[in-house]
Amino acid sequence: MCGIVGAIARRNVSKILIEGLSRLEYRGYDSAGVAINNEEGVFSHRAVGKVQALKDKFSDQLLDGKMGIAHTRWATHGKPTESNAHPHFSGGDLALVHNGIIENHEPLRLELKAKGYVFQSETDTEVIVHLIHDALKVEPSLLNAVQASLAKLEGAFAIGVVQNDDNERFIAARKGSPLVVGVGIEENFVASDQLALLHVTDQFIFLEEGDVVDVTLDKVTIYDAQGEQQDRPVSVFNHSIDATDKGEFRHYMMKEIYEQPKVIRACLEGRISDNKVLTSCFGADSGFLKQIENIHIVACGTSYHAGMVAKYWLEELAGLPCSVEVASEYRYRKVAVPKNTLFLTLSQSGETADTLAALRMAKSLGYLTTLAICNVPSSTLVRESALTLLTNAGAEIGVASTKAFTTQLTALLLTSVAIAVENGLSAQEESALVDAMRSLPAYVESALAEDEHIKKIADRFANKHNALFLGRGAMFPIALEGSLKLKEISYIHAEAYPAGELKHGPLALVDEDMPIITLVPHNDMLDKLKSNMQEVAARGGELYVFADKDTDLHNEDNIVFTEVPKVDSILEPIVHTIPLQLLSYHVAVVKGTDVDQPRNLAKSVTVE
Ligand code: F6R
Repeated sequence: MCGIVGAIARRNVSKILIEGLSRLEYRGYDSAGVAINNEEGVFSHRAVGKVQALKDKFSDQLLDGKMGIAHTRWATHGKPTESNAHPHFSGGDLALVHNGIIENHEPLRLELKAKGYVFQSETDTEVIVHLIHDALKVEPSLLNAVQASLAKLEGAFAIGVVQNDDNERFIAARKGSPLVVGVGIEENFVASDQLALLHVTDQFIFLEEGDVVDVTLDKVTIYDAQGEQQDRPVSVFNHSIDATDKGEFRHYMMKEIYEQPKVIRACLEGRISDNKVLTSCFGADSGFLKQIENIHIVACGTSYHAGMVAKYWLEELAGLPCSVEVASEYRYRKVAVPKNTLFLTLSQSGETADTLAALRMAKSLGYLTTLAICNVPSSTLVRESALTLLTNAGAEIGVASTKAFTTQLTALLLTSVAIAVENGLSAQEESALVDAMRSLPAYVESALAEDEHIKKIADRFANKHNALFLGRGAMFPIALEGSLKLKEISYIHAEAYPAGELKHGPLALVDEDMPIITLVPHNDMLDKLKSNMQEVAARGGELYVFADKDTDLHNEDNIVFTEVPKVDSILEPIVHTIPLQLLSYHVAVVKGTDVDQPRNLAKSVTVE
């Protein structure tokens, strides 16, 4: 999604801004731009494609100045062209960058056109800069003009604005899209996330919904949505959890796949004793666990798949009804909330617009409490939820989520066991589950050992256009996640089915060109799944089977076998995820796609 960086300093800020944009590249974007304010005016460079294309423009024509704003754009209104790239200008010396969507941009555009404004782009953003320009005609203070203009906007935004007439400050604001202030010594910054500013500061202020901030060299003044000045706390970034370089790996995705044993351990650390889940991990008062009678899980994409797995665990271990829904649907329907229902959100970023909107709606629906399982401690989701369980996976840069998913599953397993204990799980059963969890990092490590073998298999997918993933029970969501991973980074069309559904339709697709990836758990579904595999084999389909060796499956004419470690069945969904991540990674590498930043996708989906 779009990313914003803003800076004011005693030194030239252009390098700071460009470095900030490079650090935001992981969020996904299709064009970029910078506006620099100096004694002679506000000047900009914009370019379609990578931040490198923008850097090249700086080599042709250097822009120097002590204040500036910069942007990576992920197209929503209008194609990724140079004229649609931000910053947008009004009157030549007022420039603005924006992340979000202005829903009432059409009537505003008409009003502004009637006043004589000429639009240079197809974006919704351009109305904001003209509105501010118009407001400045009656209200010379940039801060007041921005506040007056924002009051007219419907939708979501984070913005940064510079004006040449007022070269002592820039103004930034947020409502519905993330924005953080970076505090320096005689220099201050804003950005869409902390990572963009770690090269210049480790002190941050997280803006609240509706905040407008006046940023000068030595002061950051924050006004809330009512225009009242507010003090917001400064927090210091913990560098030990920063993981923003690729190390020995060619791609962030592979680095993050290999980090999984370590981060799963970090997710469990301090949360299990020898034989128990420590409920203190949910905060000082874990009394809510006793009261839970139902669970509603809401999330998007990969996080939604983690929620689907948790439904199996919660219903099996705790015997409580659990529903799982994508946030973009949940937020637009009337939801019946039974008594004592826990509202549980899952999100890597904690900034996903639909998940945040669902949480805000849920707060008015009489839930018992709200719990966020999230990877980013400073995120809006964490700040707005009553309870939080952090996944502790460290920064995830690859757009395709990997370690965030397996740590979400780990946190969900902890949560399921904690709830189950209040619903009749015996001390002996709890202790066995805790033992299983403790061995999880080692099993993930052994699953990674199949990397070389999976790399060889990946070659066979290079010319495929479709793939089918099959799983049963809690492995069905893992099949869904495997198919999502393959499609998002290798652009192969992939679908997942519960294997029992094959003969109700998808079997018609099966022929020798269709690879069928089958996840074979070692449980009472094994024989049923073997029958499903026979149905495929009988129609010439090529099966890629992921199973432990005790399942008695092995390489055959139409079966390509990959061994997955034999584990307690509760851990199978987590351990089976690893080979599927490796498969999609290697297929993408064979196909030569942009693994870490696949086309059209964004890491943090901050617009609806
Ligand atoms: C896929 C992926 C997305 C995200 C989804 C939700 O690999 O990463 O499907 O899972 O956009 O994002 P979060 O978890 O940040 O709410």
